[in-house]
Amino acid sequence: MALTLVELTPDNLDAAVALPPKPGERSTVAPVVYSLAEAYVNPTAWPRLIVDGDDPVGFVMANWNPDSDIEAFRAGIWRLNVADAARGRGVGRSAVEQVVAEARRRGLSRITVMWVPGEDGPEEFYLKCGFTPTGEVLFGEVVGERAV
Ligand SMILES: CC(C)(COP(=O)(O)OP(=O)(O)OC[C@H]1O[C@@H](n2cnc3c(N)ncnc32)[C@H](O)[C@@H]1OP(=O)(O)O)[C@@H](O)C(=O)NCCC(=O)NCCS
Repeated sequence: MALTLVELTPDNLDAAVALPPKPGERSTVAPVVYSLAEAYVNPTAWPRLIVDGDDPVGFVMANWNPDSDIEAFRAGIWRLNVADAARGRGVGRSAVEQVVAEARRRGLSRITVMWVPGEDGPEEFYLKCGFTPTGEVLFGEVVGERAV
């Protein structure tokens, strides 16, 4: 697999919003269309389509906002959705590592992520990707951190 992160364009928008979950579907993560709306109103958001060669396989959105009042929102992963058919093949881990690389490029030493606790959530995935819980719970979600 040649997994890369690419910017959203008019050409790949349809593929991005087709990634799960669908709007209205019960999920621990927001639909991509909602994340893109958030990115439109939050210029610090950093949305990227994850592609395997030319195939869209996921979506990741980071946030780089050093001035945020909320420490957990200053640098880190805001959203991550991997296409159902692409799960379990390292797509999520690769996206995390590419966000980590972007954080290093920005001179940062730490990123955060927040996840919904529970068996249906992505906790095990984030622990395997090197995040550790800070002990903080924000808006009902566990805050995890990782040195970069
Ligand atoms: C969670 C998610 C991003 C994982 O993506 P993925 O591409 O399937 O994960 P990877 O293949 O990179 O997995 C990396 C490791 O985490 C493990 N892992 C992934 N999802 C897991 C899960 N749900 N439960 C337990 N372990 C999991 C993998 O087995 C792998 O472990 P290994 O290193 O021992 O082989 C994906 O399942 C997803 O999009 N879920 C729905 C949305 C979501 O929860 N997003 C995160 C909220 S911010």
